[in-house]
Amino acid sequence: MEKRELLYTGKAKSVYTTDEADYLILVFRDDTSAFDGKRIEQLARKGRVNNAFNAFIMQKLAEAGIETHFERLLNPNEVVVKKLNMIPVECVVRNYAAGSLVRRLGVTEGLELNPPTFELFLKNDALGDPMINESHAKSFGWATEEQLARMKELSFQVNNVLKELFAAGNMLLVDFKLEFGEFHDRIILGDEFSPDGCRLWDKETRKKLDKDRFRQGLGDVVEAYEEVGHRLGITF
Ligand code: ADP
Ligand code: TMP
Ligand code: ASP
Repeated sequence: MEKRELLYTGKAKSVYTTDEADYLILVFRDDTSAFDGKRIEQLARKGRVNNAFNAFIMQKLAEAGIETHFERLLNPNEVVVKKLNMIPVECVVRNYAAGSLVRRLGVTEGLELNPPTFELFLKNDALGDPMINESHAKSFGWATEEQLARMKELSFQVNNVLKELFAAGNMLLVDFKLEFGEFHDRIILGDEFSPDGCRLWDKETRKKLDKDRFRQGLGDVVEAYEEVGHRLGITF
């Protein structure tokens, strides 16, 4: 497969067209951003760690019957994916309270949420990814009722699969963000699943093993991502 034009440069990945109309190449860079792009730093190895991590998770989801855009790894920093028409709405599932939920509702970090919550955020850095509801998504044409229902269903399926996977590595899947897109009239999972877009805590010590280490200046960010990977049996 041939890499053609640069379509888009995001905060952490670059997107290229290929010689096949239905496929793209995503390049995972070492850039790490927080606070909707207001803080960006380069962290050595992060691109290839997240590329390998994402490939492992996407394959686990596929094995569980959840369709994703993942096709195959090209090299340590690059992956071939199906080209999706992305829905500009981010889906967040939370099993424990953390981050913006704690700030918004004044609840204690670590409170178990039973059942897990499901939230929507508009993908718009300039506006700081504001929280929206289904009515906004429908009225502004960001997603249809059917698409929203499918994204919610798939998000909870992903939660069920990954909660168990991380539990086997003695970790709590606190929360995570997913992005979906359309591929020939189907809604499938796109973007990435890595410690950049989820929260993972050690089950006993509650040590943070995700991008909160970067957001909160805790250090050893990529080392923590690698530790998560090793606990799952990923070799980087
Ligand atoms: P951001 O846009 O948030 O800065 P990234 O740096 O991760 O994020 O850039 C990757 C971009 O590629 C995102 O805008 C994401 O929505 C988009 N994307 C991810 N997967 C696909 C796909 N399969 N098809 C089309 N676009 C995709
Ligand atoms: P939040 O607590 O900041 O709302 O984020 C919840 C989870 O979703 C957390 O794991 C980070 C992830 N997330 C992103 O990765 N990108 C985003 O734009 C948003 C809104 C959340
Ligand atoms: N993913 C968003 C960003 O990169 C939000 C965050 O991680 O704080 O800015």
